[in-house]
Amino acid sequence: DKKKLIDTLELQKTLTKEEFIELLTGFTDEDAEYIRQKAVKNALQYFDNKIYTRGLIEFTNYCKNDCYYCGIRKSNTKVTRYRLTKEDILQCCKQGYELGFRTFVLQGGEDLRYSDDELADIISTIKAGYPDCAITLSIGEKSYESYLAYFKAGADRYLLRHETANQEHYGKLHPDSLSLENRKQCLRNLKDIGYQVGTGFMVGSPYQTAEYLAEDLLFIKELSPAMIGIGPYLPHHDTPFADMEKGSMELTLYLISILRLMVPNALIPATTALGTIHPLGREKGVLSGANVVMPNLSPVTVRKKYELYDNKICTGDEAAECKVCLQNRMKKVGYEIISARGDFVPIEG
Ligand code: 5AD
Ligand code: FES
Repeated sequence: DKKKLIDTLELQKTLTKEEFIELLTGFTDEDAEYIRQKAVKNALQYFDNKIYTRGLIEFTNYCKNDCYYCGIRKSNTKVTRYRLTKEDILQCCKQGYELGFRTFVLQGGEDLRYSDDELADIISTIKAGYPDCAITLSIGEKSYESYLAYFKAGADRYLLRHETANQEHYGKLHPDSLSLENRKQCLRNLKDIGYQVGTGFMVGSPYQTAEYLAEDLLFIKELSPAMIGIGPYLPHHDTPFADMEKGSMELTLYLISILRLMVPNALIPATTALGTIHPLGREKGVLSGANVVMPNLSPVTVRKKYELYDNKICTGDEAAECKVCLQNRMKKVGYEIISARGDFVPIEG
């Protein structure tokens, strides 16, 4: 009986691997509705009906990696590559600040052209100009020393999805140059340094099973991250996984609710991929326990070039349009977008 498992999950904030597998296998609409209501109740308790917002700046689509699922993988010769300059990035921050954003997420492919000094300089310049803002980095696997340098320059948070906690599965999604072990080490290093750390995975990525998802949940429980980002896997036409089935929205929403019960104070975004798989995906995400949205601040001229998967939404819309659009969308479902930095607040005791 899934309702019993859901009650246990809410109380104990975790389950055994076998129980997670059971929870994830063959759930009904009624089960999903049952956990959704609990997830919403928990989110309201910790965050009221407030939704934090992060301005996403996709500053480079160069990447040295070749992940089989990702549209900006290095073997994709069809993407037009771009890099934003420091000035471009600062311009995005200026516009974002005026629109009320107090967190900037610098995201990019693993692009070796930006040196650590350069990145540290960009970070400290943003921090000097906008001392009341948080800076989140999402630039992949780096050395401990690099992570430390960015932190000292003023970076506050780091997003690095683990993608899958199962080694065999990891190997099916990535070339041999990448390893789950290193990914996990990076996450530990980031935590040790003092970042608010975000991790996560794609739902319905090729070869994923309920067992692997249970391992993802247990890994997240162990890491105890401040932020957890999940979204459906969506194919990109110029990747080896072009013909693979997309992920399921229903399972993504169900997992958002599970994650909300596991880490009730976590920052959980209703992701762009969720908004891409269904026109109301982000609203449904919030109504399943998510409490963050991450509109795009990148210049419209580069938006289409940062296509990790096909049909990504908002590639033609100015940041100001997305802000208003999201404000209206959230209001329609009873939520309010707020400007606060939205740092992770640990649970007392
Ligand atoms: N579909 C959905 N999400 C994807 N990502 C990368 N490629 C895809 C895809 N095809 C996600 C990965 C990565 C994040 C930035 O985007 O989980 O960590
Ligand atoms: Fe970008 Fe709606 S959020 S247009």
